[in-house]
Amino acid sequence: MPAIRHGAKGAVISGWGTALPEKVVTNEELAATMDTSDEWIRSRTGIEERRVGGSTVGLSVESGRQALEMAGLDPSRIDALVLATTTPDKQWGTSAAVQNELGLFCGAFDVNAACTGFMYGLVTAHGLIAMGADRVLLIGTDTLSRITDWNDRATAPLFADGSGAVVLESVDGPGQMLGWDLDADGSALSILQSEVGGTIKMEGKEVFRRAVRIMVDSAEKSLAHAGVQIDDIKLVVPHQANIRIIRAACDRLGISIDRASVVIQRTGNTSSASIPLALADALDRGRIEHGDLLLLVGFGGGMTAASCVLRWGGGLE
Ligand code: UT7
Repeated sequence: MPAIRHGAKGAVISGWGTALPEKVVTNEELAATMDTSDEWIRSRTGIEERRVGGSTVGLSVESGRQALEMAGLDPSRIDALVLATTTPDKQWGTSAAVQNELGLFCGAFDVNAACTGFMYGLVTAHGLIAMGADRVLLIGTDTLSRITDWNDRATAPLFADGSGAVVLESVDGPGQMLGWDLDADGSALSILQSEVGGTIKMEGKEVFRRAVRIMVDSAEKSLAHAGVQIDDIKLVVPHQANIRIIRAACDRLGISIDRASVVIQRTGNTSSASIPLALADALDRGRIEHGDLLLLVGFGGGMTAASCVLRWGGGLE
């Protein structure tokens, strides 16, 4: 990835929001309908329960509204809406429906990069701001329960629904983004995929093996682009697919898992929503302060991987 050309305007996150469906499905409930157990799911994935229900538009409107409120922005002031999702409600127009329901008067489009969608959207949003937009609403939402085969114990315990949103605003100077990386390897498409109208098919072990490698590779590229070391990172905000993947990636990067934001135990894998949900959780718990360096990193179907290093609040040292 090329080094960042810092223009007149950078971006910072000025508000965030989350939405999870009300319905909780516990591991015990799954074990009542398929040949699995709470112990197996917990020990192999870290998931204890997940939220299921709602629509991509409905959850996006909820998280997006919260983010706008926190940023103190009237919807009319947003210059662009980017909706990261791999489960649009319709073939097209999901982001337009969100734009309409939120009362935005701006361009709106979907980004589909499976579980790395939010990261692709985040880089895109920074690009829009570098090109002159002043305020961008970025939402990551997935309703994976709609494309999950609820009779398949290899996938059903993993996937769930949720949404996370951030408002990005332009600032003078370099802003928060210090380095970024977007990767894809289409030769690995077959190990994790869903045909249009179908359900998720996955070679779990192979996805696991590659996931750790591509997350670490991507993270190392972003750290290098940012000119920082892993020890400089206050908090890792990883894609929430499996606690063992997060642990292995942290081990290989040389950072304690205590410095990672983890929400998978209560959310499951919410794809495009997983990184913004983990980011919002860390912010709401006061784990991030002005000036802290964050490493956001994810992987997903495609296969894709993506990461970035942010200085929270932007600015130089
Ligand atoms: O956003 C990206 C999405 N996907 C991922 O990140 C998935 C990455 N992969 C994984 O997270 C893990 O590979 C899984 C959680 C999917 C599976 O864990 P694993 O440790 O790789 O287990 P495994 O596939 O090797 O299966 C071990 C055993 C097998 O039985 P045998 O052959 O040893 O008798 C499976 O049949 O566990 C069995 N098994 C289950 N048992 C109880 C598989 N799924 C289940 C289940 N409950 N739900």
